[in-house]
Amino acid sequence: MRLNKFIASCGVCSRRKADEIISSGRVSVNGVVATVGCEVGQKDVVLLDGKKLCAQTQKVYIKLFKPKGYACTANDEKGRKTIYSLVDTGMRLFSVGRLDYDTEGLIILTNDGDFAERVSHPSFEIEKEYIVKVEGEMKESELAVLRKGVVENGERMPRAGVKLLSFENNLSRLSVVIHEGQNHQIRRMFDAIGKSITLLKRVRIGSVKLGGLKRGQWKTLRQDEIDSLVEGK
Ligand code: URA
Repeated sequence: MRLNKFIASCGVCSRRKADEIISSGRVSVNGVVATVGCEVGQKDVVLLDGKKLCAQTQKVYIKLFKPKGYACTANDEKGRKTIYSLVDTGMRLFSVGRLDYDTEGLIILTNDGDFAERVSHPSFEIEKEYIVKVEGEMKESELAVLRKGVVENGERMPRAGVKLLSFENNLSRLSVVIHEGQNHQIRRMFDAIGKSITLLKRVRIGSVKLGGLKRGQWKTLRQDEIDSLVEGK
C-alpha cells in the first residue's frame, strides 16, 4: 500500500495532507526517513514524529459545534485549547477543513482519510454556509461587491452567496455561502469592504447542518449525512 494511503487509514489526515507530512521528513519507515510515493507492507514499522502508526478499522464520522476560542490543530504551538479536548471517542481523529480560533460552528471530524479527501477536495465545491454579524447596516451595493468576488490585498476572493437576514441594534446579520475554503476567506472578504465582523459561525456543510447542537457538543453523523457528503451534496 502507498504510504500516504496507510497514514490516512491510521486516522492521521487525508492522503493529500499525508504527502505534505511525508515531504516534511516527519515520517520514517523501519528507521529511515520516508519519501513521497513509497510503499509499505504489513511488517513495516511506520513512525510519525517518533510514534508508531496503526491502521484503524472502525470508521468514525462526527459533527462538533466548535466554540470560539478553540484551535483546530492537534497540538497547538501556542498551547491554546484545541477541539480535540471536546471529543472523547478515544480514537485518533482529524478535522475535515478548519475554522479559525475565533470562529465558531460546525466542524466534521473523522478517521477516514478517503472521506476527508473527497469532501475537502476543491473540485467537489461543497457549500459551506456561515452566519456573519457585522457592525452597521450593510448596503445593497456592498452585498453586490461580495457576491461578485471582492479583491483583497491584490487577490480576488471567490464569488459568494450573500443574503441580509436582519438589521437590529446596529448589527447586520447575514447568511454567506462559499464553496472554496481559502484561509480566512470570509474575514478577508469583509475586511476588503471595511466591515468589522463581530460573529462568524458556520451552520452548514453541504446538507449537514449544525442543527440543535450546543457549543462544545458533538454527535455522530447519520449514514444519509455521510452519503450526501460523499456524493458532493
Ligand atoms: N472564513 C474565515 O474567515 N474564517 C473561518 O474560520 C472560516 C471561514
